Amino acid sequence: MKKLNKKVEEFIRVDHAGERGAVKIYEGQLLALNTIVKDENLKKMIEEMRLHEKEHCEFFEAEIKKRKIKPTKFLPLWDLLGVGLGFGSTLLGKKAAMLCTASVEEVIDEHYQNQINQLNSDEKDLKKKIIKFREDELHHKDIAYEEGATKKGLYSIMDKIIKTGSKLAITVSEKI
Ligand SMILES: [Fe+2]
Ligand SMILES: [Fe+2]
Repeated sequence: MKKLNKKVEEFIRVDHAGERGAVKIYEGQLLALNTIVKDENLKKMIEEMRLHEKEHCEFFEAEIKKRKIKPTKFLPLWDLLGVGLGFGSTLLGKKAAMLCTASVEEVIDEHYQNQINQLNSDEKDLKKKIIKFREDELHHKDIAYEEGATKKGLYSIMDKIIKTGSKLAITVSEKI
């Protein structure tokens, strides 16, 4: 049997955490949209993107089980922060909600591209999936900008906070 490559193990652990975090962010946004904020269009868009994230997350969930990889110990914290970020950003308005997607996807774009560059032909199937998922994420980013995401003024601070937080979560989730 092929020995599990440590690098690949870290890739799957962090991607699982990230995709699960994405599902949680959208769940937080939907929570706001089902209670305080009324915007049927936005809700429909977010529900659709959430379905993609669910598909991504389920793929990595299955990989974790198949390869007997330990998920990150921080899942409960990421769940909480994800829902909080989604809920909070949506309360601030549509621009903030969409910026949340744009900021996260910009980090993930780079993150997945890095992994794609490092994966060899012995992980062909995994590589194919990550290439496909990255395309989905880029599509989400485009939707976010089309729907009003902006980095003007105070939004630039929000963008920096979300990006720094996402990168920190990535570093932690690879290792622990
Ligand atoms: Fe995703
Ligand atoms: Fe996404």
